[in-house]
Amino acid sequence: MEMMLSKKLSKSHMNIIIFGGTGDLATRKLLPALFRHHKALRLPDKINIIGIGSRSLSNAEYQDFVGLNLKEYLKNNEFTADQIDLFLKELNYSKIDFNNKSEFSKLNEYELNNASNLYYLAVSPSFYTLITENLSDIGLINNDSVIVVEKPIGEDLNTSVEINQSLASHFDEQQIFRIDHYLGKEAVQNLLALRFGNILFEKIWSNVAIDHVQITVAETLGLESRGSYYDQVGAIKDMLQNHMLQILCLVSMEPPTSINSESIRDEKLKVLRSLKPVSTNEISNNCVIGQYKDGAIDGKAKIGYEKEDGVREKSKTETFISLKLMIDNWRWSGVPFFMRTGKRMAQKKSEIVVQFKEVPHNIFDSEQKQKNNQLIIQLQPEESIKLKIMIKEPSASGFKLQELPLDLFFDEYYKDDYLDAYERLLLDAIEKKSSLFMRRDEVEESWQFIDQLIHAIKEADVELEKYNAGSWGPSSSDLLIANHGSKWNNDD
Ligand code: BG6
Repeated sequence: MEMMLSKKLSKSHMNIIIFGGTGDLATRKLLPALFRHHKALRLPDKINIIGIGSRSLSNAEYQDFVGLNLKEYLKNNEFTADQIDLFLKELNYSKIDFNNKSEFSKLNEYELNNASNLYYLAVSPSFYTLITENLSDIGLINNDSVIVVEKPIGEDLNTSVEINQSLASHFDEQQIFRIDHYLGKEAVQNLLALRFGNILFEKIWSNVAIDHVQITVAETLGLESRGSYYDQVGAIKDMLQNHMLQILCLVSMEPPTSINSESIRDEKLKVLRSLKPVSTNEISNNCVIGQYKDGAIDGKAKIGYEKEDGVREKSKTETFISLKLMIDNWRWSGVPFFMRTGKRMAQKKSEIVVQFKEVPHNIFDSEQKQKNNQLIIQLQPEESIKLKIMIKEPSASGFKLQELPLDLFFDEYYKDDYLDAYERLLLDAIEKKSSLFMRRDEVEESWQFIDQLIHAIKEADVELEKYNAGSWGPSSSDLLIANHGSKWNNDD
């Protein structure tokens, strides 16, 4: 199905309609991604990009606005003035108030009926239903249309079901592309290659040899200009519900029968269904939430969360969470997954640490502390895989063991070949390939787990601990993993 659709589409005609066409996501990510594809001739032969926004702009003014933004967000060596001019010619603009149905008729001038249309909703999820209904009412949704929606899909299970329900009444599931931009990251996809393209790891990828797994997504960024939005959301819904759980799925799922989208998503869904709910009684021992206070990163002072623009006074929104999760199935029984994400942390670092067990019997001098193997898969800022192994240290005095890393740094091999996450995902949506997008049941299953987690946190009144901006979060987070006899991998 995917193949047939993409063949039919490639090198034909497509309209890309971006709702939120003057917004941050469109200007920083989507339009630069489309520019790069345009330059590399990866788009259909005839393309019409229509920005939709609330500002009053003519086409020419929109093109100037986008041109300026492209020059800001693209690297200097990525464009020439001519290439930008050529791209801007494909752009049009319409001012539409989403609440006003009649304004959608402005879209009629673009001859979207019976055409191949990609609708990208780069707007708040509260508009998803309204926009799709209005598009449907004026007959602009057909079998060849696709819709791309950003996370978060809703703010809990109920609202997510409502949104999904409304999308489903106008589009078939294979026409709906729910973005989690982490799935578009080359490094995240590489998890599939590492696990299922090598026999080496898969045979020991279970409670047989693994002691625990750590998944960290740490950011040095604060709120940028998103204070009022973030304050309603917090780290659990912003990062854990989507990016972190998706990484967990790729790390822990069973081998899919093929690389096709349904096989992969079926296996991810099974992981989400196997997550052990954290009960109110257990939550305090298994979860730490925090909020940053004043501090410094790289020697630069950073203000505390409560002082950020848009944040409510005495806000109780968490900017950090660490959590011990268990997956209730044969493969992972007894293996904790420690998850940690936060804003204004010591370093920008996203990584997976697979901590292996001790060797079953130590044949060496018992004085010698033997370290357990560790596999560190770094996703950001650099992509690398490091396997820490024990070797014999050359020495005249007996048999001494030492730990050394086997290192693989991807950018030594693939300097300029990377597609940025949005480039990858936009191209896949244009070609109607859905394996890197979330299926409805996955999103709803994640919310089910998150709703229950948030409920337990509230019921047990888990304390919101303050941490210094520029630190690794509250000290209780170190204790959480220390209780398992381990520590977070902060230094490598
Ligand atoms: C977004 C979150 O989904 O991911 C942001 O809403 C976060 O709060 C961002 O900063 C992190 O993405 P990346 O690609 O910079 O790791």
